[in-house]
Order: sequence, then C-alpha cells, then structure tokens
Amino acid sequence: MESMIEFVHRRIEKNNYNIAVDFTMGNGYDTLFLSGLANKVYSFDIQKQALINTKERLKDVNNVELILDSHEHVDKYVDSIDVGIFNFGYLPNGDHSITTKADSSLEAIKKGIELLNPGCILYLVVYVGHDEGKRESVIIDEYVSKLDFKLFNVGMFKMINKELAPYVIMIEKRK
Ligand SMILES: C[S@@+](CC[C@H](N)C(=O)[O-])C[C@H]1O[C@@H](n2cnc3c(N)ncnc32)[C@H](O)[C@@H]1O
Repeated sequence: MESMIEFVHRRIEKNNYNIAVDFTMGNGYDTLFLSGLANKVYSFDIQKQALINTKERLKDVNNVELILDSHEHVDKYVDSIDVGIFNFGYLPNGDHSITTKADSSLEAIKKGIELLNPGCILYLVVYVGHDEGKRESVIIDEYVSKLDFKLFNVGMFKMINKELAPYVIMIEKRK
C-alpha cells in the first residue's frame, strides 16, 4: 500500500491550483511537490533549519514563499487557499522535541478552513506514534468530526489493522 503522504500527493496531483499552502514545510518535499501544480505556494515552519533545507531543495523554483512563522498565523500572509497540506510531527533527522502542538495545530486548521475556497480540500497527515502526536490526533479528530456536513465533506484514509499507523484526514469545503 502507498504511504499516507503518497496517497495525499496522488489525490492532489489530479488538479492545478492558484494558491497552495504547505502548513508544515519541514525538508520541503511537499512544498516542492505543490510548486509544480500551483501558481503560488506559501510554506510555513517555525525552524530556520527547515527553511535552509527547503531553500536548497527549491533552487530552480520561483513561485514559493518560505515563511518563518507558526502556521496559525496563515491569515497574515494568505487571503484564500485552493489546496493545503498539514504533515504534522517533527522534522525528520532534526530535533524531535520541536513538533507540532495540538493547540496551535487546531488553530491553524480552523484558519485554513476559513480561508479555503469552495470545492477545495485541506489534507492532514496525522501521526499518533509519539505522545504529542497522540494528543494532537485526539483533539483534531474531535474537531473535524463535528464539522457541519452541510458545509464540509470530511473523510479519512487509515490502516485499520495497525493501531499506531499515521492516517489522513481530508476536509473539503462544499460548493
Ligand atoms: C513532519 S515535518 C513536515 C514534513 C514536510 N512537509 C516535508 O515535506 O519534508 C513537520 C514540520 O512541522 C514543523 N512545525 C512544528 N510546529 C509548527 C508550527 N507551529 N507551524 C509551522 N510548522 C511547524 C516542524 O518544525 C517540522 O519541520
């Protein structure tokens, strides 16, 4: 079976977009992927190292704005969103104590939903294999499962026979 992020990319690559947001830049793989499909990509991280790593990966790309700020401030930089990726957790090969946190993640998801254009989707890759990730997953699941079905389609892609496997949540704003 494909990985969770491969599943997300495969769905996203079916379309082109005006504005894309990578809410968790990390090493820039998702940002680079989005840059090939969108007119403009805004990419957020709180770690300078993420921006350094991503800048290196994006050498030949000029439609990306790398932003050293926490993702719940997305509305300071972006007016509307056509596709967004949250790939929660910590920087692989980085400091594992610097990870996304439940409260700011939830705030960023709420802002992302507000900015999302009708017919467009936010993709959340959620990791439950570490303590903060578990806490984050409970809070996120509770919030998204209560979104009004008349306004949003909310779906999940999950391995149901592996307790601590990461999973994907998709939030589509209905037209
Ligand atoms: C799993 S990595 C993301 C992987 C990345 N999308 C890629 O393609 O390499 C998670 C990233 O989220 C970042 N992060 C943690 N808290 C954040 C916050 N409040 N706002 C934005 N990024 C944050 C971490 O620094 C880390 O780089």
